[in-house]
Order: sequence, then structure tokens, then C-alpha cells
Amino acid sequence: MPRNAKTFIRKPPATSTSDAPRLPHNPRTRAFFAPCPRGLEALLAAEVTACGASDVKPAAAGVAFRGEMEVCWRVNLESRIASRVLMQMARVPYKTEREIYDATHAVDWPSQFGVARSIRVDVNAIKCPLKSLDFVTLRIKDAVCDRFRDALDQRPNVDTREPDVRIHGFLDAEQFILYLDTSGEPLYKRGWRTEVGEAPLKENLAAGMVMLTGWDRVEPLFDPMCGSGTLLIEAALMALAIPPGARRTFGFEKLNRHEPAKWAAVREAAMAKAQAPRPLEIYGSDLSAADVTRARTNLDSAGLTGCVMLQRADVLEVPAPAAAGVLIANPPYGVRIGEATELATFYPALGNAFKARYTGWRCYVFSADAELAKLIRLKPSKRTPLFNGPLECRLYEYRMIEGSLRRTKPGEAINSTAPADDNNCTS
Ligand SMILES: C[S@@+](CC[C@H](N)C(=O)[O-])C[C@H]1O[C@@H](n2cnc3c(N)ncnc32)[C@H](O)[C@@H]1O
Repeated sequence: MPRNAKTFIRKPPATSTSDAPRLPHNPRTRAFFAPCPRGLEALLAAEVTACGASDVKPAAAGVAFRGEMEVCWRVNLESRIASRVLMQMARVPYKTEREIYDATHAVDWPSQFGVARSIRVDVNAIKCPLKSLDFVTLRIKDAVCDRFRDALDQRPNVDTREPDVRIHGFLDAEQFILYLDTSGEPLYKRGWRTEVGEAPLKENLAAGMVMLTGWDRVEPLFDPMCGSGTLLIEAALMALAIPPGARRTFGFEKLNRHEPAKWAAVREAAMAKAQAPRPLEIYGSDLSAADVTRARTNLDSAGLTGCVMLQRADVLEVPAPAAAGVLIANPPYGVRIGEATELATFYPALGNAFKARYTGWRCYVFSADAELAKLIRLKPSKRTPLFNGPLECRLYEYRMIEGSLRRTKPGEAINSTAPADDNNCTS
């Protein structure tokens, strides 16, 4: 059983301190946890609230909430930020692997899914005192299988590549939380990506970046280094109110208590809000013709043919596609020898290009490399920390107002036509 190397670090939700009167207990509600990229928790909390969740509590790298299964279905289908929706099956204090086994064995697994379904178990931990997470993973798998064997004299098979059912364990220093994954494949896999370029963004991170810009879904949006088109596709889906999960299936569809007719009604209600594809004020370009082709193929596969204008162009030369709007980009950052020098000239030139051609635009640059970002030599009005997996990044905002923003060295001439007190930075 492989141990999941990527540990999503998460604090258990704080207990509510609110004095608000508690609603009567609804036995149909369950506790859920939706993990997400760190830095996007507030956006996810707003999304799950909009899906009808209660007791919404942002934590580190995710949001805890309560709701009926309909809420769980809606978050799976409609959240642009969640990576998964995990349904809590047990939550106990623990000291030993035996206690983890017992808590897992106490769950009535045969009532949750059929023995013919294949399973996979993943464990994540923070400050766990136990020696081996691989062993914990094995004990959880044993407990699930033993529970089936006790009831049916048969056990489910393990399939780590394409499991029908995923079970997640989370351990902190004192508590063990056991979840049944209602999503299946992670939710950032929207089901449209056929072409992958170099270093594509995960779809939920891309959606979060677009949301953080405050883009109003109508004003022009431009990604001049679009690669495989992730930011463009997420923006177009938002503009057309198309649910991000419209083209995929979900883990909950394989569970015993699934109610297909009710799910179909929930899905139809969300789809009814979607608008038909049409040309949008969303523009993309890339220096690489192969990337432009990739982006086009992915747009087609997402059902967005003709919605986004694409062209092959150098960001250092391409004119702004509109008088004002939101520019968002995830420029290359160097890992290979030789690239460092190239990038040391590229980033200042990018700053110059923003200054020369993007007056009136809000420009956003996503970067894991603070030193490279400094080379843009424009004053960011915001730096939002965001995590790309374990990698700490920043989304830098540059508000381009005529003749301003150039970061100057002492004594350097200000290349500005703006009055001296012009202050266009927000923080
Ligand atoms: C990190 S990738 C972007 C990945 C993209 N966000 C995605 O999700 O697929 C950087 C992109 O910048 C493009 N690029 C590099 N130099 C460029 C230039 N001078 N003008 C336009 N695009 C450029 C590369 O071809 C590459 O597709």
C-alpha cells in the first residue's frame, strides 16, 4: 500500500465559540472535510456555504462543514476550489495502531459499498507519533477487509491505480479521523484535459487564482503565457456558469446508498444555470505554437470551442487585446542550467512590457520564485501567498496606471508621466 507522499497539512476544525442558538439536530446531516490548495480556504468556504453547507469552518488546506448528501453532491459538482469531498466515518483519540484498527473495524463498511468494489487507502499525517504510516495504512485496509469478511466471508480487492472506493485516514498528534472519499478522482481533474504542456497548473489552483484577481467574469481577461490553457478554461467555465464537474463522474455514484434520481435532479438544477458557449472577452497566447494547439484542443474538449481567442505571440511584443482588463500569467521559472540567465533578462522585459502596453490593466503574475518576481521591478499592490502542492508561491498584483509603478533605485530617474503623489497601490 503506497503512502501518499503529499501530506495535506490540516488542523482539525476549531470548536464553535458562537453564542448563536443551535439548530435542531438533523440526523441526515454528516460531517465533511474538503481539502484544497493552501491559500484558497476562504474562497472554498464561500463556495460550500453557497452549496447549502452548515457549520462551515475553514482550516489549514481545507474546509470542514456539515450537510446532507445533496450538499456533498453539490460541492463535488460545483466547487471550483475543492480537491475532494471527504465524508467523516470516525473520529477518535488514538495512541496505537490497534486503536486505529478498532475504530476502522467499527464502521459498517458492507453497508457503504459492495464487496465487488476495489479499494485504496491513503494516510496523511501531521505530528503523528507512530513509527510507520505505511503500517497504519495496512491496518486500515485490514480492518475494512476484516469487517467485510466477518459479514460476507469475502473481502474487497485493493486497486491502487483505479480504485472504485477510496478511504483516507488522517492523523495528528492525538486524533485519528477516517474518511470515505465521495469524489473518486480528485476534483481538479475536470475530465477535459487531453493535452498536457510543461508544468500545467492544477485546475482548482488556476480557478482560485482567477477568483483572487476579483475578475468580474465580464471584463476582458488575458493569459499571454497560456501553455495548455488551464487559466483560460477555468475563466471561461466561470463566465458561462458551467459547473466544473459537468464532464465527470464521482465516487459517491459507486456507494450503496446512492440515490440516482435525486442526484440527477441536483445535477440538472446546476446545469440549468449554465449558459451556452459563446465568444467571450477571454484571450490567450503563447510563444510556443505547440502550446497554442494544446490550449485549443483542451478548449474543444471542454466544450468551449470559439469561446476564447487564441494566438501565437511573444508576451514581450503582443499588444493588449482591450483597453483595460485582467492579465494573469504563470511565467516560466528556471530549473535547468542556462535558463537562469535567460530569465534574468526576461523578467525585467516583462515588467517593461506591462508598463508599455498594459496601462489600465490589473496584471497578475504567479511565481514560486520571489527573486525572479523582484526582477519585474514593478511595485506589487498585493502579494497573495498560495501553495502549488508543497511549493510556496505568490500571486503578485500590479495595477498599471499611466506612468507609475516602476520600482526605482535611489537616484534612478522615475520613468513616469504621473504626478508625484499619484498612488495607485492598494494593500
Ligand atoms: C509555466 S508555463 C504556463 C503553464 C500554463 N499556466 C498551464 O497551465 O498550462 C509557461 C508558459 O510560458 C510560455 N512562454 C515562455 N516565454 C514566453 C514568451 N516570451 N511569450 C509568451 N509565452 C512564453 C511557455 O511556452 C509556457 O507555455
